Amino acid sequence: MSYIIGVDCGTSGTKTVLFDERGAVIASKTIEYPMYQPQNGYAEQDPADWSAAMISTIKAVMVQSGVKKEDVKGIGISGQMHGLVMLDKDNNVLRRSIIWCDQRTAAEVEEMNRIVGRDKLVEITANPALTGWTAAKILWVKNNEPEIYSKVAHILLPKDYLRFILTGEYATEVSDASGMQILDVPNRKWSDELLSAFEIDKSWLGKVYESCEVTGKLTKCMAEELGLCEGTIVVGGAGDNAAAAVGTGVVEDGKAFTTIGTSGVVFAHTSSVSIDKEGRVHTCCAAVPDTWHVMGVTQGAGLSLKWFRDNFCMTEKETAKLMGLDEYYLMDKQAEQVPVGANRLLYLPYLMGERTPHLDPDARGVFFGLSAIHTRRDMLRAVMEGVTYSLRDCVEVFREMNVNVSDMMACGGGGSSPLWRSMLADLYNCNVKTVASKEGPALGVAILASVGAGLYSSVTEACGAIISADKVQEPDPANVPEYEKYYQLYREIYPALKDKFSKLAAL
Ligand code: XUL
Repeated sequence: MSYIIGVDCGTSGTKTVLFDERGAVIASKTIEYPMYQPQNGYAEQDPADWSAAMISTIKAVMVQSGVKKEDVKGIGISGQMHGLVMLDKDNNVLRRSIIWCDQRTAAEVEEMNRIVGRDKLVEITANPALTGWTAAKILWVKNNEPEIYSKVAHILLPKDYLRFILTGEYATEVSDASGMQILDVPNRKWSDELLSAFEIDKSWLGKVYESCEVTGKLTKCMAEELGLCEGTIVVGGAGDNAAAAVGTGVVEDGKAFTTIGTSGVVFAHTSSVSIDKEGRVHTCCAAVPDTWHVMGVTQGAGLSLKWFRDNFCMTEKETAKLMGLDEYYLMDKQAEQVPVGANRLLYLPYLMGERTPHLDPDARGVFFGLSAIHTRRDMLRAVMEGVTYSLRDCVEVFREMNVNVSDMMACGGGGSSPLWRSMLADLYNCNVKTVASKEGPALGVAILASVGAGLYSSVTEACGAIISADKVQEPDPANVPEYEKYYQLYREIYPALKDKFSKLAAL
């Protein structure tokens, strides 16, 4: 039997899973690390935390499984997108990584529009300038930390930094590079025009591969440290969403998934480049060669629930510890007792600004309709519903773009909650399925690695052999019209508050 390792460098932690060639989980280990918020709207992580977590988790799965190192045929890496890792000429990390949900770059986004023009940016990168994407962050460092910028020799994305640690190669792949806003997305290569307009040296960037191509081999030193063979292949891998698509079998037109992780994403596969001119959803290269995807992103999905848990759910945390249960399971049970609409309480999940559909870094969270009758339980349900309203906003944009979705999967931590899945089915008014494997991105990149290692001839063939559907959640005909009323009201709240958010940000 052959085995494959999938590493997922997420925002809350890094998870490594050892799979057999049929996609069964043999061993899994996650290590968490902090996110730093030095100011309101800032978000940073330490690349040293990511590499330490990757090394410890790979070692752990090898020891736990007892699998022979010769039988591990490849490694795939997935990661949070858009994060900026800057190295000097001696490969030292120059500053903490500014990560995907950081919103400090409003001025740089204006600068990008001024230099290149909004239409040109959309034509080349398939997306308008975005505060959370990498190019704006590079310009922010240039404008605000010139002493650091003067030392830059390499620019990498989070998972590509891990690839560098494993192989010594500076490389990336099309799905993650699409989120840097310097890739020519229709043509799947760096845009010389944008690099010269932003004065970014091409030699700082890694070579661009397709996601299932071999990008390098494990160095002797890393192989010894990890308990693996020198020369084990490392494939391109993918940004976490493109990886989750492969891990849920979303590799053909008509297929889509919703993931509720720290962020919430609605993702649809497209065999041609499909762009929303208003830029409300992103268009990126998919991990399947020569295909693309569209995705709508809500910044604070699982992040909203985690925020609520950490600030208001001490009882659940303690009870869960005592009973050996998951605290989110207990929170679900609480929220289940509240009716649709949370007793007329709505929540806007904009704790970290918002992307789809508002593209507004200044937007902030709101509870709307709070009354003395409300309890913590109502607020909890309102948080889950508010995130789902925001995900429905993404689906509405797809509908406007004529991106047809006939098959919706749910994944991510939130996708494993039956209550959250039922909210998705009711608000989308369609069946929401899960796949048998819960490993999403880690499985996705393991599949890409199994193609790179020659175990399968294509990503589609591998998905056909490995992915199988599990549960189906149908919409509840009584809930659908009820939720619709709340959703329509939800849509009216942001426009009414838009100016107030800017005023608040300026205080
Ligand atoms: C996608 C995005 C997030 C991150 C973190 O554009 O910013 O989904 O990849 O998971």
